[in-house]
Amino acid sequence: MEKIQEEILELKKQLGSELLILGHHYQRHGIVELADKIGDSFGLAKAAAEATGVKSIVFCGVRFMAESAAILCRDDQKVYHPEPEAGCPMADMAPMEAVEEAWSILTSRPDYKARKMIPVTYMNSHAPLKGFTGKHGGAVCTSSNAKKVMDWAFTQGDLILFFPDQHLGRNTAKLMGIKEEEMRVWYPSKPDGGIDSLEGVKLLLWNGHCPVHMKFTVRDVEFVKKNFPGCLVAVHPECPKEVVDLADAVGSTTHLVDWIKDLPHKTRVFVATEVNLVRRMQQDNPHLRVEMLSRSLCPTMYMVDLFKLKRSLEKIIDKTEEAVPMPDEIKGDALKALERMLALA
Ligand code: 13P
Ligand code: SF4
Repeated sequence: MEKIQEEILELKKQLGSELLILGHHYQRHGIVELADKIGDSFGLAKAAAEATGVKSIVFCGVRFMAESAAILCRDDQKVYHPEPEAGCPMADMAPMEAVEEAWSILTSRPDYKARKMIPVTYMNSHAPLKGFTGKHGGAVCTSSNAKKVMDWAFTQGDLILFFPDQHLGRNTAKLMGIKEEEMRVWYPSKPDGGIDSLEGVKLLLWNGHCPVHMKFTVRDVEFVKKNFPGCLVAVHPECPKEVVDLADAVGSTTHLVDWIKDLPHKTRVFVATEVNLVRRMQQDNPHLRVEMLSRSLCPTMYMVDLFKLKRSLEKIIDKTEEAVPMPDEIKGDALKALERMLALA
């Protein structure tokens, strides 16, 4: 164990059971070793919602995850983010002004009249978008429950506006039997979002993506399938549909971690997700040949490091650390959208 990790353990001891450190699967190894719970976005949001006896939650992940914990935690709890600048480029692709504009354009179209649109936002979005979603009768989803949430949304309306990740939306729609011609991409920069007609349309996909998962290509999958006959390919659903279609397994980070464990000894499996997780899957499964489909690092996840975690704990002890701000006017509606998701779990 590194010296700084021992120092962090000492600070953890001082804070005792009042402290809960949550860490996403994409965090650096040193952080993962010290976190009280590691998980996917859904598992960590649930852990924050269920954290009894805890006063301080330190979230090692990106901002939307820390914000979600701040929405879900009790009023007497505080959430801290060791690096408040660690955002998510995908979440940035759906700014509130553009979302409000899209909603207003769509709902005032003549061909919208007899329709009812329900917003569904991926967890990977800013808190105000979760608030907007809650206010308009929609729900949050994560990569582990997108189908459940979209199935539910179709009991509430007949058209879903899904943001910000068009790939998770499209991959989920395929599982639900929604056809390509029943989907349209909403391009915020085009007049009318680039949508000519809503007739027969069930799903509107916001034009957003994850740069980390866009690095995995059909060529990568074809290459490994050709050169390593019998190998398996496991991917995250933020990958483009053409890549997901060729994969042997698809799912959230926790799903991928669990799925790989039971594979027969010596199976060669190529994983298409963030490199820190793939490295850990390699270490944790010495009975397998786990490989990266391609090396792809999430730079914002990487911004959280042991020094920042240590400083955050010291400041919590000194009572000088700033908690993740969550204004009441956002929290109320965002909580509705998150609770709708949790109720479906
Ligand atoms: P998971 O919910 O699968 O952990 O995904 C979060 C994420 O940011 C993937 O890019
Ligand atoms: Fe955002 Fe992609 Fe990083 Fe996940 S991997 S936090 S979606 S940029």
